[in-house]
Amino acid sequence: MKEIKLTTTFLEYQSLSELSAKDQELMQAAIEVRKKAYAPYSQFRVGAAILLEDGTIVVGSNQENAAFPSGLCAERTAIFYAGATHPNVAMVSIAISASSDVKTTTTPIPPCGACRQAILEYEDKQARPIRMLFMGAEGAVIESPSLINILPFHFDKNSL
Ligand code: THU
Repeated sequence: MKEIKLTTTFLEYQSLSELSAKDQELMQAAIEVRKKAYAPYSQFRVGAAILLEDGTIVVGSNQENAAFPSGLCAERTAIFYAGATHPNVAMVSIAISASSDVKTTTTPIPPCGACRQAILEYEDKQARPIRMLFMGAEGAVIESPSLINILPFHFDKNSL
C-alpha cells in the first residue's frame, strides 16, 4: 500500500480590476450574459464566456426547467455551443460569474462536477489546457491554469 497525494494550484486575485484588460473583457462578457440566465427556480444566475483561439467569445447562461434535471448549467450551455459551432477552433479561456437574486455572492463560485467533466472533454479533444477564471457577483477571482487543476483524479477516454 502506498499513499498517493495530488496537489493543485490556483491564483487568487483580490478583485476583477487586478486581471489583465483581456481577462476583464472576458469576465465582463460572463457578467453580461449572466443577467440573461433563465433561473426562476433557483434565482441563482450563472454566466460563462469562452475565448476561442481566433478571438471569438462564445457565451452561455444557465437555463432552468420545471422538470429540474432538464435544465442546464451556464458552463455547459456555453461549451456545447462553442463545440457545436466552432468545432475546430481551440478554446483558450473560460470566465464564469455567478450571482444570487436573494443574497450577495462574494466568494468565487467554481463550476459543478458535471460541468468540470464536460470541460475536461474539450481540453482532451484539443490537447491543450483551457484556462479558467471564476468569481461570484463581486470580490475575488480565482484562476486555474487548466481544468485538470480542479478535477485532478478524473474519468476520461483513457479509462474506457
Ligand atoms: N449552475 C450553473 O449554471 N453552473 C454551475 O456550475 C453550478 C450551478 C446553475 C444550475 C442551476 O440553474 C442553478 O445554478 C442552481 O444550481
